[in-house]
Amino acid sequence: MSDMLLTNTIQGVGILILVLSLLYVCLLFRNTLKTGRLALVREVTERDFLAQRANEIVERNRIQKAKDENGWNGIRKFKVSKKVIEAKDQCSFYFTPHDGRKLPPFDPGQFLTFSLNIPDQAKPVIRCYSLSDSPKDDYYRCTIKRVPAPRDTDHPPGLSSNFFHDQIEEGQIIDVRAPGGHFYLDSTRQSPVVLIGGGIGLTPVLSMVNYIVDTGSKRETWFFYGVKDGTEHAMKDHLQKIDKEHEHIHICPVYSRPRDGEDIEGADYKYKGRVGADLFKEVLPSNNYDFYFCGPPPMMNSLFEGLREWGVPENNIHYEAFGPATVTKKKEADQAAAKAPAATSDTDAEINITFSKSGKTLAWSSDAGSLLEFAEDNDVAMDSGCRAGNCGTCATALNAGEVEYISEPGSPPDGGSCLTCISVPKNSITLDA
Ligand SMILES: Cc1cc2nc3c(=O)[nH]c(=O)nc-3n(C[C@H](O)[C@H](O)[C@H](O)COP(=O)(O)OP(=O)(O)OC[C@H]3O[C@@H](n4cnc5c(N)ncnc54)[C@H](O)[C@@H]3O)c2cc1C
Ligand code: FES
Repeated sequence: MSDMLLTNTIQGVGILILVLSLLYVCLLFRNTLKTGRLALVREVTERDFLAQRANEIVERNRIQKAKDENGWNGIRKFKVSKKVIEAKDQCSFYFTPHDGRKLPPFDPGQFLTFSLNIPDQAKPVIRCYSLSDSPKDDYYRCTIKRVPAPRDTDHPPGLSSNFFHDQIEEGQIIDVRAPGGHFYLDSTRQSPVVLIGGGIGLTPVLSMVNYIVDTGSKRETWFFYGVKDGTEHAMKDHLQKIDKEHEHIHICPVYSRPRDGEDIEGADYKYKGRVGADLFKEVLPSNNYDFYFCGPPPMMNSLFEGLREWGVPENNIHYEAFGPATVTKKKEADQAAAKAPAATSDTDAEINITFSKSGKTLAWSSDAGSLLEFAEDNDVAMDSGCRAGNCGTCATALNAGEVEYISEPGSPPDGGSCLTCISVPKNSITLDA
């Protein structure tokens, strides 16, 4: 009896050990599977990430190569191939290269610099206009708003914008410098963006949204376009089509003063009021976006402040201002005169500007305007665009000495260089020009 009990006990323990062993093997197997699955998921994620980075690098290299192959220095001739009225006082100009060669791509948000031979002007008039379409092989497009004279003054209306509207016709040839500028969409990222255009400040952000559409990117995109009413609303059909056809792109026209009975909420515009952080708080799911904006100065200031107060990190805020170049230039010249070192008549000769590449050393005088104007007046070649501290085109290495700014740089230059269009020397300096 006791032998049988012993045998049964041994059998029971044996079965228990067997069951426990099986359980252990099962657990081991399950854990191995789980770890394997996790490792696989991690591997796939890492592989996708690396593949995305590799694609981005390949794409950037492709764009850079195309820029190098088809880019140009100085002036290139373009034919005005099409002129289209877009809205009240806004007109698009299509430019095709006169030499028939391919165009280099540009980063959406960048601008062209025009050198215009306007009758009765002593020198070519230089102005920047943002590219308002996504990059194409065979044409560039800019959309220009006519700038009137300021109210209650005798000043002439805007020189270049009115010249474009009134004198530039299809078939004419025009001098253009290559695309440039530091305000552009970071196309290597797929993070969600909010694009904001106020009035004619629409142009660079329109290029950005067109680029997102053309590249098939699924980037979440909000597009706010602030105008007074329907008369100023450019590219309406085009933008409505994008809104309808792309679930991830939300086009939001905002009218500050819609016309009674003519501008219909929901059909013509989405929101009444002003584009700003208050509206974003109502409409956007969060503040976790990259914000790109361009518009008139009051809108720019309030947007920047509003976004900062809402907790948007400065790194996620990107903007560009269109300065009225003539006014800025005049103001800068006056300020330059006022800010130049004292006792100028006796000590002018004490400040020398050395242009190292041109091999020229010249005495600075307080009525010379900005360093850029001083260089141009003395036949030293220097690149320039906006002439208002916004575009960075005139950034020049400062090899010795110090400068001071006569207005706040919109696009701060790299260390060791200065924006010559808005700076004057503090002491004798050497510029790499
Ligand atoms: C990077 C960048 C991109 C831009 N993109 C665009 C764009 O896409 N579309 C666009 O339309 N614009 C754009 N601009 C603005 C454009 O470059 C011009 O500044 C704008 O067209 C006005 O130039 P203008 O020659 O017509 O006027 P200006 O001759 O420069 O005159 C500007 C204003 O000053 C007034 N004025 C003239 N003389 C005096 C005086 N003595 N005292 C006081 N006031 C005076 C004029 O009546 C006018 O109101 C851009 C600017 C920059 C910097
Ligand atoms: S010319 Fe644009 S920053 Fe000087």
